[in-house]
Amino acid sequence: MSDGVIADFFKNDHDEIDALLAAVDFNRPKEALPLFSEFDRRLERHIVWEEEILFPAAARLAPPLAHGPIAVMLEEHALIRKEKRDALERLHAGDGPGAKRCVAAMLEVLGGHNMKEERILYPTCDRVLAGADAARVMDVVREKSRG
Ligand SMILES: [Fe+2]
Ligand SMILES: [Fe+2]
Repeated sequence: MSDGVIADFFKNDHDEIDALLAAVDFNRPKEALPLFSEFDRRLERHIVWEEEILFPAAARLAPPLAHGPIAVMLEEHALIRKEKRDALERLHAGDGPGAKRCVAAMLEVLGGHNMKEERILYPTCDRVLAGADAARVMDVVREKSRG
């Protein structure tokens, strides 16, 4: 079922990022490091797409979004980024259990965060950025994903 180009694309990206994390075995920190680094890179890219391209484009056409849902998403991004950065540091130090604890803290925010985006914010973005605007936003995201 298609929810719109934006919702489909960003939801699919959530799923791919979730799958990368699911493959990380924190009991083996050395092997976990390259896999978690890839998860980190992909989640960071996803957050940048939202913060620099999607959310500003939607807020330009629907300014109240910036103060409500988008402001909440930005606060949650900061929490998510902190825990994933700490997890990466722990893994670099060979501390698998410590990394696992940070990831658990990150997932407490990320689970609900992705659900709110998928159920509310992305469909809202598709509605606000209907047609040519949505296509333009996706062009910019795809252009950036090659960089
Ligand atoms: Fe987000
Ligand atoms: Fe997202």
